[in-house]
Amino acid sequence: MDLGLKGQTALVLASSKGLGKATAMKLAEEGANVMISSRNETDLQKTALEIREKTGANVAYKTCNIMDNEQIVELVHETGNKFKTIDILVNNAGGPPAGNFDDFSDKDWVNAFELTLLSVIRTIRAVLPFMRKQQSGRIVNIASSSFKQPLENLTLSNTFRTGIMGLAKSLSQELAKDNILINTVGPGRIATDRLKELDSKIAKMKEVALEDIVAQSEAAIPLGRYGTPEEFANVLVFLCSGANTYVTGQAILVDGGLVKAM
Ligand SMILES: NC(=O)c1ccc[n+]([C@@H]2O[C@H](COP(=O)([O-])OP(=O)(O)OC[C@H]3O[C@@H](n4cnc5c(N)ncnc54)[C@H](OP(=O)(O)O)[C@@H]3O)[C@@H](O)[C@H]2O)c1
Repeated sequence: MDLGLKGQTALVLASSKGLGKATAMKLAEEGANVMISSRNETDLQKTALEIREKTGANVAYKTCNIMDNEQIVELVHETGNKFKTIDILVNNAGGPPAGNFDDFSDKDWVNAFELTLLSVIRTIRAVLPFMRKQQSGRIVNIASSSFKQPLENLTLSNTFRTGIMGLAKSLSQELAKDNILINTVGPGRIATDRLKELDSKIAKMKEVALEDIVAQSEAAIPLGRYGTPEEFANVLVFLCSGANTYVTGQAILVDGGLVKAM
């Protein structure tokens, strides 16, 4: 299948590592121009070089803290100036802190809102003029399986990921007339630094070996293992490609069968 990504321009947020990086890599492999972004410039530089070397694609990078609107606007303008269009926006951010309801103050709630939901609102607002002008676009949000089923000890994530889903569903109605399709992808357990960090915290808390926590966690997944960032990126890249012409407003899990809800 031709994904129709050659010469398209993709802006991928929070992409120096993990799911964002795997998505940027896959888009570049398919011939897209890619702008990557995150907070740490050294990591970004390294990732941009790696993607360029592996794919030969046109890769640019710019630091951006997704919690700062000014930095988002600058990033979007620089992407537009450099590549002339923005065809694809992949929203992503670091995960909000773990914890239960009693652990969080107002400040924690506001921070999590800014990181997880307001960042998505702001990037979409900044990118829409480009997509509306060219009367086409694809937006994909990286969220979490918690939009379908709450995760233990992740109250902030559980709350704001469903907000992303509501936003995307509303926008799918408003943006269809401009041929802009928007979808959300929820990772179950995909082997990235973030997952390792979360597993290590649980292992420390329960005073057991990390391997035992991973084994327990994998046993709960029908496919019997964590997913790879590449497996996740394959699904995401289809949704933001030209091959996707009729899927919009959907929230799709990439979870090896973990979530049982229909
Ligand atoms: N992996 C999973 O199984 C899984 C499951 C459910 C949900 N998720 C969610 O999916 C998203 C990506 O997860 P991941 O596993 O790929 O995480 P990761 O490996 O920790 O990578 C996170 C990326 O986000 C960047 N980042 C973090 N905070 C940022 C900020 N404020 N502004 C801009 N960039 C920022 C990081 O770079 P800098 O630190 O340099 O900025 C890094 O490039 C997270 O929201 C996570 O909660 C992941």
